[in-house]
This record gives sequence, C-alpha cells and structure tokens, in this order.
Amino acid sequence: MNAQPHIVVVGSANVDLTTFTDQFPRPGETIFGREFHLGFGGKGANQAVAARLCGARVSMVARVGDDLFGAATIQNFTSRGVDASRVLITPGVSSGVAPIFVDSSGQNRILVVKGANDRLLPGDVDAASDLLRQADSIVLQLEIPLETVYYTLRFALRHGIRTILNPAPGQPLDLAEVANADYVIPNETEAEALGGMPVRNVDEARACAAGLVARGVRRVIVTLGANGALCVSSEGARQLPPHMVQPVDTTGAGDAFIGSFACFLAGGCEEADAIERANVYAALSTLSVGTQMSFVSRERFEAVWGERP
Ligand code: RIB
Repeated sequence: MNAQPHIVVVGSANVDLTTFTDQFPRPGETIFGREFHLGFGGKGANQAVAARLCGARVSMVARVGDDLFGAATIQNFTSRGVDASRVLITPGVSSGVAPIFVDSSGQNRILVVKGANDRLLPGDVDAASDLLRQADSIVLQLEIPLETVYYTLRFALRHGIRTILNPAPGQPLDLAEVANADYVIPNETEAEALGGMPVRNVDEARACAAGLVARGVRRVIVTLGANGALCVSSEGARQLPPHMVQPVDTTGAGDAFIGSFACFLAGGCEEADAIERANVYAALSTLSVGTQMSFVSRERFEAVWGERP
C-alpha cells in the first residue's frame, strides 16, 4: 500500500463559463439563461484536483495563457495543493476556456477553446522528465496536442510508469499509440469515437471495448453513468455497479472518476475496488454544480463509502 502516491497529470487547464439554461438561442436571437458560474476546469486540471482531494501528491504539466485566467489557474492549483511548478505561461496566447451549458436534467454541452493547451509540446514533456520519472502514475487526456499525448505514453512505457489515458474529447486515434497506455478510460461517446462503432447500451460498450482489446489496447474501462463502469481486458469483462444519486450537474463527473481512480489504484487498491470507489466519488460530484468545485473531500468520500451496504 502506497500511502501517498505521486500522480503527474500531463494535460489541459481551462476556465469554465457555465450557463444553466433549458433553451438555446437561434442565429440572431437573444434569450435569457437561468444562472451562471465561473470556475476552474479543463479535463487535466479537474483530474489533478480530484486525485489531490483523494489524498495523492499531484503535479501538473500544462500551459496557460498570459491573461487573467492563466495567473488565476496557477493560483488555483497552488491553493489546492497541486504542484504547479511545471505549469508554463505562454506569451501571446489565451488560456483555455470552456463555455458550458447545463440543462435542467443536469446534462451538459461543452465547447472547448484550447488556447495555450495546444502549445504543450513534447519538448515540455522532456523538460519535466525528472518529475515524470518519479511518478507512480501519469494521467493524460486529449485537450493537448496528440503528438504530446503519444510522446508521453512512449516515455512512460520506456520508464515503466503506469499510464491512464482518458480519450476525451472523443476522436479517432492511432491505436498502436493508444496501446502504450495501461488504462484507457472513455465514456460511451468517447468509446464510440475510438472503437468506430455505436455504444448505446452496456452490450455495445462491451463489444466496443472487447474490439479495442482485440486490436491491442490493454485495459479499457468504459464509464457508463447510471450503469456503473465496465472493465475489459484480455482476461475478460467485468461490470462494476454505480452509486445511484439524483444528479444536479454531471459536468466533470468523468474527470472525478479518473482522478480518484488514479489515486485509489496507485494507493494500493485492487483494480475492481478502485473502480467501485471511483464510481462513488464521481457520483458525489454530480450533487452540486460546477466541475472542480463539485468534487468532494476524501473525508466526505470515506463517510459515504463506509455507509454502503
Ligand atoms: O470534463 C469537463 C471539462 O471539459 C470542463 O471542465 C471543461 O473545461 C472541459 O475541459
């Protein structure tokens, strides 16, 4: 059991502009939204904060712009106890931003403008190689250039470091490169994009994940919301149960799952146990609005985990 695992996230940081609305304007039309929240987001940053809240030592390798959001993002990492010494400010570029729209059922629609995230290049990974070599796990997503993601996966493989790839936002990828990751964790739509087949239910998720494993991907965990999570490898498939809640805002729930899973697994939990715990941690994040600001503390998680039947 590793009491405090070290997780390094190589990924994105955005500022989330979340509007709560049930209607969307047509071209040329102005309408009113219900409510607005400004918060820190970005899939990479969210996963880093979730892992930190669960108890890991966390470092972030990222780029922000030389604007108000960039400085505030670095300050947010620091105040949350995430090591931001490898978060670089990129002159002349905006920080990543994400206008997000949440409807009354808690479902979200997200538009990401990558800004400085798109300037995180393999040279930045080399510059952080001393830090990366010390990591128990490296966590990656797709809001940075793909060449950087693939480069980091190869680096980690060479150095025997566990990697967790969240293929989000969903897009077709080079599976030969993806096969370098220890874990690939998509949701249904990301699994569809990766596997090139529809994923509308648990059976299709199983078929898609099995297809990816047959094409060389090592372990696939498909997060399925109210259906829990499905873990597929060459050893077979296993569905882990959900933690049922009435969601208010599901934005960032996938990030809560991945950050907490990385921490629980590197902390010594068995794979299935780490997945079940991450299901609970992610569900708790849907009970309040926002992304990082909806993530709960380790104490809150333990209280709920301990009350389960
Ligand atoms: O997964 C949720 C995140 O996606 C948001 O925080 C937004 O910034 C986008 O990256």
